[in-house]
Amino acid sequence: MTSELALLGGPKAVKSDGQDVFDWPIITKEDEDSVLEVLRAGKMSGIDVTQKFEQEFADWLGVKYALAHNNGTAAIHSALFSLGIGHGDEIICPSITYWASCLPVYSLGGTVVFADIDPRTLCIDAKDLEKRITERTRAIVVVHYLGYPADMDEIMEVAGRHNLKVLEDCSHAHGSMYKGKMVGTFGDVSAFSLMSGKSLATGEGGILATNDRRLHERAVLFGHYERHGSEITFEDLKKASGLPWGGYKYRMHQLTSAVGRVQLRHYPARMAEIDRAMNHFWDLIEGAPGMRGHRPPRDSMMTKGGWYSPVGLYCPEELGGLSVGRFCEAVRAEGVLSCYPGCNLPLHTHPVFRETDIYNEGKPTRIANLKSAFDIREPEGSLPVSEDINYRVFRIPWFKRQRPEIISEYAQAFKKVARCYDELLPGDEKTEQGFGRWSTSNVAGR
Ligand SMILES: Cc1ncc(COP(=O)(O)O)c(C=O)c1O
Repeated sequence: MTSELALLGGPKAVKSDGQDVFDWPIITKEDEDSVLEVLRAGKMSGIDVTQKFEQEFADWLGVKYALAHNNGTAAIHSALFSLGIGHGDEIICPSITYWASCLPVYSLGGTVVFADIDPRTLCIDAKDLEKRITERTRAIVVVHYLGYPADMDEIMEVAGRHNLKVLEDCSHAHGSMYKGKMVGTFGDVSAFSLMSGKSLATGEGGILATNDRRLHERAVLFGHYERHGSEITFEDLKKASGLPWGGYKYRMHQLTSAVGRVQLRHYPARMAEIDRAMNHFWDLIEGAPGMRGHRPPRDSMMTKGGWYSPVGLYCPEELGGLSVGRFCEAVRAEGVLSCYPGCNLPLHTHPVFRETDIYNEGKPTRIANLKSAFDIREPEGSLPVSEDINYRVFRIPWFKRQRPEIISEYAQAFKKVARCYDELLPGDEKTEQGFGRWSTSNVAGR
């Protein structure tokens, strides 16, 4: 008898070509016209369009100030500076994230301590984070990972008790809600990547948001010298204004801000459609063995915004120990080409966070940036969830349109593989190849 599984000779579950269901970003004549207007006026390096975008972004998010940057990494760098992070300071960051959540701290003379994640949300685990606080800790970086809102009540409570600042990295979570309130409005400052693979996609770009005027001004001071005259009001900051304190030039390109204005206008409706489509997918899968949705409970007033780079949680114990690599191979054979194991690799295991001496100080930068001789590097096994998570998640299709017939074919592919898992056990070599990545950007560089 032939198998039902496409990998073993059966028919594929996915028969449609997917049409435009995955296309992103959605670019219309409105985007094109906005770019042409800036180009024809020769205003690419100006700030007038950018300032309109900032105001609209701040209004949408519900904060007082937004400061656009030329990418999300720059926005995080400015945000860390705005918080006063300097020589010898530690920040705490989850190990499972893109490097830019913490790596810019090195060039401020600070360093990073990694905390473990919660295996259900994939966001920083507040209890583990608290254990890693020292007298040198100044700030916590929260990443709303793959759109899932981190547990802000617990995190803010820990931060408050230890007098720590909170930076929310919302690069995956534009529009995600935590208990009915938008992420990016809980901490002292937040930063968003806007590169073209993100849910709110403008091209290379980033934006910093805060309600705190002083933090806004410090961020302006760091890499936006062209605004010093009009935006710096604190006397102590004014004294040395005119040149960027960071030595960086972080202004957003106005082709990006022009696109940003159009994309933001349409984002709430597009995000709502993504949310419907992705929840529809998980509703179809619910109850099948081996898989859990990486999504907040329906009645929690929590949402995943644009569902950036979505994954499912994998439970091999329900599938006879089938490896996630073999599982994904079978799902891909069904026609789901985007199904791969893993997410970001744990940062605390990368040489840049273990041994690399970036600034020629005779020791790894990670510890050279501390005022006294401490070794804060986490030994293998000390972040068990982060070290294991790449065997426990798999990428799922990121639907941008609610097309129930197409989504149903994709859901059938996953369910069929889970149902017939025992046929896959004999060929399971449990290879670790292709697990996880240091970055979340897709292969096309978006
Ligand atoms: C969590 C996170 N933070 C920060 C960034 C940096 O943003 P950008 O690529 O715009 O510099 C990214 C980008 O992928 C990210 O995923």
